[in-house]
Amino acid sequence: MAQRAFIGLLAGLAVVWSAAGITASSWTPGPRAQNHEPWPLDPGPQKTSNDGVYSKAQADGAKAQFDKLCAECHAFTVAAKRKAEDLPLGDEPFFKNWAGKPLAELVSLIVFTMPNDGRAAIDEAEALNLVAYMLQQNGFPAGTTPLTRDTASAIVARPKT
Ligand code: HEC
Repeated sequence: MAQRAFIGLLAGLAVVWSAAGITASSWTPGPRAQNHEPWPLDPGPQKTSNDGVYSKAQADGAKAQFDKLCAECHAFTVAAKRKAEDLPLGDEPFFKNWAGKPLAELVSLIVFTMPNDGRAAIDEAEALNLVAYMLQQNGFPAGTTPLTRDTASAIVARPKT
C-alpha cells in the first residue's frame, strides 16, 4: 500500500513537472547571467593573487559601488564587522577558504548571488572590478593591467606572501 502511494506520488510529480515545462532543455539563464559565459575548463598556466593581477585604477573605480551595494554586509577585517552575522571578505578565514581556487569562481559567485538582498544585479565587468577592489583592500599588490575575463580563470587565490 505504501509502495502504491509512493508510485502515485511520483506519477503526480511527473505530471506537474511536465505541465510546468520544466525540462533540462527548456532552462535558460536568468538576466544576470546573460553576459556571463562559462569559464574555460583548461585556463592554462596559472598566476596567483600575489602577482599584481589587477590595476589600481580598476580597484579604486569599484570603491563607490562596493560602499553602496556590499559594505552593509561585508567588511574586510573581522574587527570591522558591523553585525555579528557579517562575513568578512578578508583576513584569514576568507583567503584561507578560497586558497587554490580561481578568482573566476569569486567573480561568478558575485554575478549570480550578490548582493543577496535583491537590490541590484552585478554584471561580469562590475564583478571583476569588485574582486580587484577586494584584492586591494586585502593588501595584495596592484599590477599594470586590470583583472579581466581572460585572466581571471588562470589566477588562483593564495594567502598573502
Ligand atoms: C544583505 C547582505 C549582503 C549584501 C548587501 C552583500 N552580501 Fe555578499 N554575502 C552575504 C552573505 C550572507 C554571504 C554568505 C553566503 C550566502 O549566504 O549567500 C555572502 C557571501 C559573499 C561572498 C563569499 C564569501 C566567502 O567567504 O566565501 C562574496 C565574495 C560576497 N558575498 C561578495 C559580495 C559583494 C561583492 C557584494 C556587493 C555587490 C555583496 N557580497 C553584497 C550577504 C551580503
